[in-house]
Amino acid sequence: MPTEPDDDLVLTLRVNGDRKRLLIPANRTLLNLLRQDLGLTGSKHGCDVGDCGACTVLVNGAPRLSCITLAAEAQDAELLTVEGVAVGGALHPIQAAFHEQVAAQCGYCTPGFVMALKALFDERPDPSDAELNEVLGANICRCTGYTKILAAARQARERMNGRSA
Ligand code: FES
Ligand code: FES
Repeated sequence: MPTEPDDDLVLTLRVNGDRKRLLIPANRTLLNLLRQDLGLTGSKHGCDVGDCGACTVLVNGAPRLSCITLAAEAQDAELLTVEGVAVGGALHPIQAAFHEQVAAQCGYCTPGFVMALKALFDERPDPSDAELNEVLGANICRCTGYTKILAAARQARERMNGRSA
């Protein structure tokens, strides 16, 4: 990995399809890279210690907690953040389901849930309720009680599999 004096490093990666090249401190977290250096504030600071999931992004298709991931670990990676999930101005079915089910109150947790579910659906297009619950249980929502979030996850699953929901 190319480094600069004083422990800065040159990071190249793709974010939501756009190629980026930045000079950053070696200790920059991926979450701070996204929010501070790239202005992508959809990924949220929640706990900052890897417990809540609000900062979840996809790195080469896999969910990662960006608050406890060094940006340097994303060298040459393909990143997807919540800003890149909608395609062509249309909400992703997961986002549409959250909207239709009113599955957010403050909404602070929502990007993390959307990204965690996207990773699941990308890997397992028709997950069971137990698999949905396992993913949802790894993210913290302090407002909704999870009932509507589960309803949204189920709706997204049904719509994405061509079933009515
Ligand atoms: S902010 Fe990253 S897990 Fe909570
Ligand atoms: S809607 Fe507020 S934390 Fe989930």
